[in-house]
Amino acid sequence: MATPSGVTLGELRSAGKKLVRAAGKQVLLIAQGGRVFAIANRCPHEGYPLSEGTIDGECRLTCNWHNWKFDLKSGAALVGRDPVRTYKVEMRGDAIFLDLSDPPREELRTRALSGLDAAIADNDAARIARETARLERAGYDASLAFAHAIAARNERLEDGMTHAHAAGADWLALASRAPDDAARLTAMLEPVGHLAEDTLGAGRFPYTDDVAEWDAEAFVAAIEREDEAAAVARLRGAMAADMPYEILRPAFARAALAHYADFGHCAIYAFKAGQLIARLGDAVREPVLLALTRMIVRSTREERIPEFRFYDKALTAWDGGGTARVNADDFIGQSVDGALKRALGSSARSAREMFDALLGAVAFNLLHFDLAVQEATDNAVADNVGWLDFTHALTFANACRHLCAEAPELWPRALLQMALFVGRNRKYVRDVGDGARWALRDRDAFLNAEIAGLYDHGIPEPIVACHRVKVLLALEDELAAAPEAPWAEAMCAGVNRYLHIPMKRHHGLRTAAQALDFIAKEG
Ligand code: FES
Repeated sequence: MATPSGVTLGELRSAGKKLVRAAGKQVLLIAQGGRVFAIANRCPHEGYPLSEGTIDGECRLTCNWHNWKFDLKSGAALVGRDPVRTYKVEMRGDAIFLDLSDPPREELRTRALSGLDAAIADNDAARIARETARLERAGYDASLAFAHAIAARNERLEDGMTHAHAAGADWLALASRAPDDAARLTAMLEPVGHLAEDTLGAGRFPYTDDVAEWDAEAFVAAIEREDEAAAVARLRGAMAADMPYEILRPAFARAALAHYADFGHCAIYAFKAGQLIARLGDAVREPVLLALTRMIVRSTREERIPEFRFYDKALTAWDGGGTARVNADDFIGQSVDGALKRALGSSARSAREMFDALLGAVAFNLLHFDLAVQEATDNAVADNVGWLDFTHALTFANACRHLCAEAPELWPRALLQMALFVGRNRKYVRDVGDGARWALRDRDAFLNAEIAGLYDHGIPEPIVACHRVKVLLALEDELAAAPEAPWAEAMCAGVNRYLHIPMKRHHGLRTAAQALDFIAKEG
């Protein structure tokens, strides 16, 4: 229904432009080139008034704050990004009437998603936020932005699933418990921005289209052969049969834990994929699982590195005959081989007992990570170790506990791989006697405060910020599962230390020194 603007054509022509208020909106009327235009007065960039802009003789308006330029006929941004809203104008004699009704919801959705695609391609965080807010205003859940981004950017991920997906499940969990709308939207936007960064400037790496009947054995075997096409075909067969991830997950878990794959990342992702699909719905199931399949296929099999080679022998030797009781002290200070042998000595004990003992050693390592290691600039590449090498031991354990609950036969692999983390990180710990400094009096208050702080973490790199949310939610989950666990206090202290000791996030001097050394020896 048309609304009177209160302005006549004669008045507008003599003034050139007029700002009117109608139905709660500020509308800028412009007479130009024999036509009347009506646009929203707030610039879609940062909201400054377009009534203060400059109009040229080509039906273009320039916003003088940051020089965005708009085509008055279409509203398109000729310079800049988001288009400005235009309104239909109707002349009734000399009176100017405006159609201020909103376009259909579906049209608003299409526009916002199109804008989101452009914003993600540009890695433009501010526009990603605006377009997601537009989706919400049109009546859609903001999580649609992430679901859309996952599908739209899937072929841009040469190595498949990333932390944007894995931590996305955690950010969505945070959105669901956010204290207010801004915090909720913040959490929704984090993984979209992360995915934008991960795919910035990337080419296309399409998945093959072949479909083969789902067969868990054949799927795992294809991944073992690093045959992405064969694995994807089996997965497509499962998708065609509308199989939920809960049915497929044991096969993914087997494939993920078949090796010490990407330092345990495959298991973490196999677990997080389920949480992500549960949060976003079946629409993302296929793209998420395609990305996960590719990621596992391409993962590095770390146990082939000399440092971890005893793992295969230990796995073969795991016969359930080791009856020694075990606790954290048995693992603390052990080398990789020593930790594996110690685990074998208790292979008959319950998975929970060994899990707790290993988590105790993980906690000790977190609490004693030698900060000189992250500060070093003259170290060997093999010793490029930082906080995340330590935190992954916790998130890996958290993932394994869930995956092995469905597939208990995977426990030996999970526990021995936890031992790899413990043994490997032992080289980088130093007890300087400050453990008590990080002890917590009130565990719940600590978790609540740290989780509340995630909505305004102030960390520019998504990969750093996302590890904070992953670690805190993994800790919260493990404490909920075992509040009286023997490692609980030490793990809280270790995570407290990780969160509050500055992380060195750029290693320019180290990289340069290593490059010089490498090139000198390259021959
Ligand atoms: S507010 Fe208009 S261009 Fe920035």
